[in-house]
Amino acid sequence: MSDIDLKDYIRDIPDFPKPGILFRDITPVLSSPAAFQACIDRLAERYADRKIDAIVAAEARGFIFGAPLALKIGAAFVPVRKPGKLPSKTHSHVYDLEYGSDTLEIHSDAVLPGQRVLIVDDLLATGGTVEACLKLLEHFSVEIVECAFCIHLRGLEGEKKLAPHSVYSLVEY
Ligand code: PRP
Ligand code: HPA
Repeated sequence: MSDIDLKDYIRDIPDFPKPGILFRDITPVLSSPAAFQACIDRLAERYADRKIDAIVAAEARGFIFGAPLALKIGAAFVPVRKPGKLPSKTHSHVYDLEYGSDTLEIHSDAVLPGQRVLIVDDLLATGGTVEACLKLLEHFSVEIVECAFCIHLRGLEGEKKLAPHSVYSLVEY
């Protein structure tokens, strides 16, 4: 396993997308095959023996980490998408944003009762996105193994929104 420090590949962009926000940009991780590989390998090492049936991840950045991890650990990949993108029957969940609301959808046959599911995203901030994924999964009686992230922004206390599910991340700020 490489000894890469992932923080060397996460770029701080001040005032994006709004004044006062310090945006943690993962694109340098993605442009380094060694750093990107280290992310997937470290997550795979944690979950390879946890009998994960499916990885659920929300578009767009969740797909970047969720899909290669699913392949590496031999799990199904289940996309959670913005409204109107999934072609078959879906479950939807509407959730509040700072201003307004958003909706995420999952195919109604995406997972089976009793399956062991890992939720993956690039970053945990307020927790709203992964909380919406958890709400979508309530329809299916699955077992949530954990919620895994590349980055956890600790000050925003997103982990409280996801409790009692456990949260794991490769990097914290
Ligand atoms: C970002 C990020 C996470 C989410 C984290 O996605 O990729 O999914 O926000 O924030 P939260 O914990 O407060 O929900 P974004 O909604 O910007 O969409 P994108 O992945 O399509 O860029
Ligand atoms: N970086 C990337 N995505 C984000 C952030 C951030 O700091 N905050 C919320 N989504």
